[in-house]
Amino acid sequence: MGEQNKGQEPVPAEQIRFGEPRRYLVNIDSISTSQLFADCVIVGAGIAGLRAALEAADRRNVVLVCKAGLEDSNTWKAQGGIASVLREDDTFESHVADTLRTGGGIADPAVVEQVVRQGPELVRQLQDWGAGFDRVNGRIDTTLEGGHSHARIIHGHGDETGRAIAEALIAKVRSTSNIRIIEHFFTIDLLTDNGNRCIGIVGQSKEHGLQIVWAANTILATGGGGQLYRETTNPPVATTDGLAMAYRAGAVLRDLEFVQFHPTTLYVAGASRALITETLRGEGAYLLDTKGRRFMKEYDERGELAPRDVVSRAILAQMRKTDATHVYLDVRHLDKEYFAKRFPLISDLCESFDIDVSHDLIPVRPSAHYMVGGVKTDALARTSIENLYACGEVASTGLHGANRLGSNSLLEGLVYGKLAGQGVGASEEADATSLQHPAIKYHVPHSDRSQLDTADVRNSLRSLMWRNVGITRKAQPLAEAQEIIRFWHRYVMDKVFDTPEGWECQNLLTTALLLAHCAELRKESRGVHYRMDHTQTDDNRFRKHTEIVRAG
Ligand code: FUM
Repeated sequence: MGEQNKGQEPVPAEQIRFGEPRRYLVNIDSISTSQLFADCVIVGAGIAGLRAALEAADRRNVVLVCKAGLEDSNTWKAQGGIASVLREDDTFESHVADTLRTGGGIADPAVVEQVVRQGPELVRQLQDWGAGFDRVNGRIDTTLEGGHSHARIIHGHGDETGRAIAEALIAKVRSTSNIRIIEHFFTIDLLTDNGNRCIGIVGQSKEHGLQIVWAANTILATGGGGQLYRETTNPPVATTDGLAMAYRAGAVLRDLEFVQFHPTTLYVAGASRALITETLRGEGAYLLDTKGRRFMKEYDERGELAPRDVVSRAILAQMRKTDATHVYLDVRHLDKEYFAKRFPLISDLCESFDIDVSHDLIPVRPSAHYMVGGVKTDALARTSIENLYACGEVASTGLHGANRLGSNSLLEGLVYGKLAGQGVGASEEADATSLQHPAIKYHVPHSDRSQLDTADVRNSLRSLMWRNVGITRKAQPLAEAQEIIRFWHRYVMDKVFDTPEGWECQNLLTTALLLAHCAELRKESRGVHYRMDHTQTDDNRFRKHTEIVRAG
């Protein structure tokens, strides 16, 4: 076990009950709605959902739904890689220690141990399934990333690691006969009975409109919510839907205040933000301010290889100091041919903006990247709702604590996807025939409040979150953010929408409110949560989890 949490008391939790009048976003009359039956329904097709499907399909019939295409996931976009102990000079103990150190004292050592130890076997299995990891001298190549004390980041097609992994998993899922894939299915809500049991989902399918999938078990693998923020590395689908629907269903959410900001996304005014992988710094790239000065050592002795929360805040501070909108990554000293081969995606991206990386600096700034908290699970991916599992970014398993170590998320998705799938396979009431479900009738009360333009609300929300609930926080802006979100919430949550845009807006508002509230309550700085009015970590009062659950 790592030194950081050795001998420490288990981390307690403070649970907050939060008001939310709506149980479901739409009117439901199950008797007259199109229906499907499955042993297991999985929502989401990133690494966790795909891996869970393969595991569950060993024993069960699986329906896998995703709101866009199978390729539209955060997993597909992952560049840097997947962290795992593959080299002889690396150890499980070291990976565990790095993860716990980064987790700011509230990661769960048993979960960390489990994930780290299962990593190598699952990575090799992925390779056997066709994931094209890059190799040197016949062995899988590994590289360094901030916060890791060894080179343990595995990558594929250079900086297209996510694609390498997702393609292999998708091919295997597609060739597994008892997995039915339904793309472009927007899951609106989780269905529960009166006994706190999840009995499936309701969503909108392209062909059938409103549709219910009754399922003995449900696995939530919907990913994160970078779209809460004006600046994000995440794809448009990352709109916190899983978090919001789990909250409406009564699941316990945990540690939502911890949002990780990636230090380096391409900053070209008017263009959407694109991730510039941290492994670039692992391979020797420098950070320069707009005056051409290397500045990281002034903030942290580890320089460019400090953990990403430290680098993000340092960049922000340096931008303020130099009155600039960005800083630069400098890779001019790296070998041009090697760079193009190792980072083909970034090379192409830079070229498309006429940035010649052997002569020009790459303008970058931080942006929202990863939701560290999520739906609380136990060590086996079970949530507080019976027959509901969560895995991947939507879950809070205990691996990350207050801050995620780079490249641990694909690893977590792999391990917890497998665990969730195993749980479904082993559960007693696991096939659709054993499912007793009540008819569901739900009617949203009529409201006379006028309609707001949801596209406008969404844009304004993203700017508000960026300004008031961003990389650095303090009491007054957090309180102001909640007041404004509550106003929008009143006018948007009382409506019944029939399009994903409307439901996404409702989900974003719900999650934003919960997140801002949790951020206000944590009056200390820990991990990725940095309070300018409480800059120290306060173990006496705040070495605890923040849990939030729907009241009533
Ligand atoms: O910088 C990166 O490639 C990001 C990796 C991660 O978020 O794990």
